[in-house]
Amino acid sequence: MDLVASAIKGTLDMLPKESHEWHYVESVAADTAKLYGFSEIRTPVFEKTELFQRGVGDTTDVVQKEMYTFNDKGGRSITLRPEGTAGAIRSILEHGLFNEALPVKAYYLTTCYRYEKPQKGRLREFHQFGVECVGAAAPTADAEVITLGKTLLDRLGLQNISLEINSIGCPECRAKYTEALKKYFEEYKSELCPTCLDRLDRNPMRILDCKSEICSKIAENAPKILDYICDDCREHFEKVKACLDAADVKYTVNPSIVRGLDYYTKTVFEFLHNGLAVCAGGRYDGLATELGGVDLPSLGFAAGLERILMIMREQGAEFPTPKKPDLYIAPLGENASAQAVKLCGLLRDEGFSAITDMSGRGLKAQMKYADKIGAKYTLVLGDNEVETSTAKIKDMQSGEQREVALPEGLVSVLYDMSIDKAFDDLHESMAKLEEK
Ligand code: HAM
Repeated sequence: MDLVASAIKGTLDMLPKESHEWHYVESVAADTAKLYGFSEIRTPVFEKTELFQRGVGDTTDVVQKEMYTFNDKGGRSITLRPEGTAGAIRSILEHGLFNEALPVKAYYLTTCYRYEKPQKGRLREFHQFGVECVGAAAPTADAEVITLGKTLLDRLGLQNISLEINSIGCPECRAKYTEALKKYFEEYKSELCPTCLDRLDRNPMRILDCKSEICSKIAENAPKILDYICDDCREHFEKVKACLDAADVKYTVNPSIVRGLDYYTKTVFEFLHNGLAVCAGGRYDGLATELGGVDLPSLGFAAGLERILMIMREQGAEFPTPKKPDLYIAPLGENASAQAVKLCGLLRDEGFSAITDMSGRGLKAQMKYADKIGAKYTLVLGDNEVETSTAKIKDMQSGEQREVALPEGLVSVLYDMSIDKAFDDLHESMAKLEEK
């Protein structure tokens, strides 16, 4: 029979055998954010469509072409979040968090949805780790957030990552720049794609971000924003660069970065690997007011987890090995099976992971299974063992066997062994540290 359905194009399953890799990246991301004073925020997977139209901008590719938008049964227009910033800011405004200590520093690990053409590193459902630093106008905030991104990628051991930064100014300098862009693109009116023709009137900066081959070719020689930014924005950018220099964060200024979302102002940045953005963000000083809230100069970034994992795997990164079961109990017969379930419960209460048979298999098949799942120890529980309350525990690596009293002896032997193992691990990590 055929499978009922296959996964939707552009989505990936995370399988149990690779979950430890995801957990590792997620925990390093969360730990790094906490080191910088960020706490987790979780917002709904869907929001009112208007939030993204206003926040992300209705002339962006994301809003015009890529959103998963539908009417719910009550006739409301709902959109699956294409990114995490708009929802986080909506939540911070709605809950009045700006009345507490500023800046509000929030991080998230979430799914995002964009109807894009799936390709390497580009999915329709993907995961972001993001940080938002809300209510912080000083250039030090920009440097801190960029440094957080770098720390994360360094801690994960990603190689060949470059950082590119730019300033796209404030609405005032943007007005002059928009005029210059309009003038430039007017000359190519007949060659622009229909979406960009519309953008020419409404928001010519978005043409710089068009993925069509012809538009991006034309955009290559367009005026550069850095030649139009006002004194305030220039001073801000100079201070950000000075802070990055002081922190020894290497970057290049790329005047072509404009980013694909409308809310950005002043500093924007991208961490790239072979031209692919792994982590990207910037300042968005006007977003809170655009969403009807108070004035909160803010900035943040988001990193694509699939892209991070893809690069780590390509670069042969070592992930911490997942914990294997401490003990497999192989019961022989019904009575022993019931006792094995009880014994497993006792061991789990003590913090050991204990597994037993769930398929009524014979001894040979059970041992094969214990070996496959990598159980550290095994214990055979027959009628005799149940009657005498003693059994032999076998170290699967050395083959060494020890007789233990059930259940106390078993618990204490497992404790002793786990202490020995902890010492071994400690010595091993100390040796590795010394090597470094
Ligand atoms: P973004 O550049 O659209 O920015 O996305 C951030 C990151 O998400 C990208 O650098 C990439 O790693 C990943 N990403 C984006 N689209 C896809 C996709 N289709 N498939 C796989 N990965 C993808 C934002 O989303 C902003 N909200 C970032 C931000 C936070 N700015 C300020 N605060």
